[in-house]
Amino acid sequence: MLPLLLLINIITFILFHPHTSAAAAGLCHPNDRAALTAFKNSFTNPNPFPTWDPVFDCCDWYGVKCNDTTSRVISLDIAPHDSLAGTIPSSLANLTHLQNLRLHKIPNLIGQIPPSLTKIPKLRFLVISWTNISGPIPHFLSQIKNLAYLDLSFNRLSGTIPPSIPTLPFLFAIDLSRNQLTGPIPETFGHFQKTAGFPALDLSHNKLSGALPSSLSNVLFSSVDVSRNNLSGDASVFFGKDKAASSIDISRNGFEFDLSKVSFMVSLDVLDISHNRIYGEIPKQITEAVYLQFLNVSYNRLCGEIPTGWKLRYRSEPWENSSFLHNRCLCGIPLNPCN
Ligand SMILES: *[C@@H]1O[C@H](CO)[C@@H](O)[C@H](O)[C@H]1NC(C)=O
Ligand SMILES: *[C@@H]1O[C@H](CO)[C@@H](O)[C@H](O)[C@H]1NC(C)=O
Ligand SMILES: *[C@@H]1O[C@H](CO)[C@@H](O)[C@H](O)[C@H]1NC(C)=O
Ligand SMILES: *[C@@H]1O[C@H](CO)[C@@H](O)[C@H](O)[C@H]1NC(C)=O
Ligand SMILES: *[C@@H]1O[C@H](CO)[C@@H](O)[C@H](O)[C@H]1NC(C)=O
Ligand SMILES: *[C@@H]1O[C@H](CO)[C@@H](O)[C@H](O)[C@H]1NC(C)=O
Repeated sequence: MLPLLLLINIITFILFHPHTSAAAAGLCHPNDRAALTAFKNSFTNPNPFPTWDPVFDCCDWYGVKCNDTTSRVISLDIAPHDSLAGTIPSSLANLTHLQNLRLHKIPNLIGQIPPSLTKIPKLRFLVISWTNISGPIPHFLSQIKNLAYLDLSFNRLSGTIPPSIPTLPFLFAIDLSRNQLTGPIPETFGHFQKTAGFPALDLSHNKLSGALPSSLSNVLFSSVDVSRNNLSGDASVFFGKDKAASSIDISRNGFEFDLSKVSFMVSLDVLDISHNRIYGEIPKQITEAVYLQFLNVSYNRLCGEIPTGWKLRYRSEPWENSSFLHNRCLCGIPLNPCN
């Protein structure tokens, strides 16, 4: 009988290295292995990925995923990694079959977004978030024609948003939140391609300014968050009975428009317009938004009676008064009665 400890070792080895026989057969493409090794060696750490050992097939390395049929590397997902230090290496361009790149929660990842990313023709999901990369959001990202999902949130990116990005044919989600972006929202954000479906937009927590382009009214966004910027003018472009959005957050900006003229989509689930200069009344039609679960219109210049007869399907509690406080002259439940 095998000693128990040895048995446990064998079982653990089989569990954690299911493709050991494949490693011997060398399934991983040599070009991919070379590109991954160059990626690893580009960082200043001596051995950032201990499982990236030539003994194992590179398809089994931490964060690496291969296509089952072709054994080419299709996904590289490094998240989180506290000690990994350096810049995004250009050797990534040699992962020619990569579709999914995620570098998430790597505080010591620095430098700029490298042009080599444009050489990865099949790249669809690009996430570089919660890192210390800085510099601009480069125009050349619009050369990655298959890009469907772009998340560059929680970095130190600055400068303006390149107008070319929203016109990518398959882009359906763009998250540039929590950076230091300046300038206006480009007019091209009104020209997402039809192939993209209902795009999700998050530009919150930046320093964007200026009026919203009227072209935005053409787009059926699934969700919009432009909160905590310095945007101004009319944000009614996001609203309308025939729109699709379930979540709209335009809070903490300088928007100024007449809410009485707005109609709300029935699909609305979250609505935060607090901390702006929005005036007029809250339209009675908002009570038709049966999915509404969160509402905040506080700190604006609204007036008149808060509508009654809400048809809320997924919220049992009544609205709190803090959803309506600090307006010019709103009255009625849950505030003081109107005179
Ligand atoms: C894997 O590659 C095969 C052959 O190229 C392709 O048909 C299949 O869709 C790929 N699978 C994935 C998950 O990319
Ligand atoms: C890509 O690989 C080729 C050969 O395998 C090598 O010469 C080249 O330097 C690599 N490119 C990068 C950017 O690492
Ligand atoms: C960026 O670096 C600073 C200083 O090292 C660190 O405190 C911060 O958490 C880092 N940011 C991110 C998003 O990791
Ligand atoms: C916000 O925008 C207004 C113009 O709309 C400008 O006067 C003001 O300086 C901006 N504030 C900040 C903090 O950028
Ligand atoms: C808001 O409601 C809380 C408790 O629900 C109450 O204590 C508070 O006085 C109310 N504030 C105003 C201004 O009506
Ligand atoms: C509404 O927003 C104001 C301002 O940010 C906040 O103080 C209040 O707690 C919020 N109320 C709700 C119900 O979210």
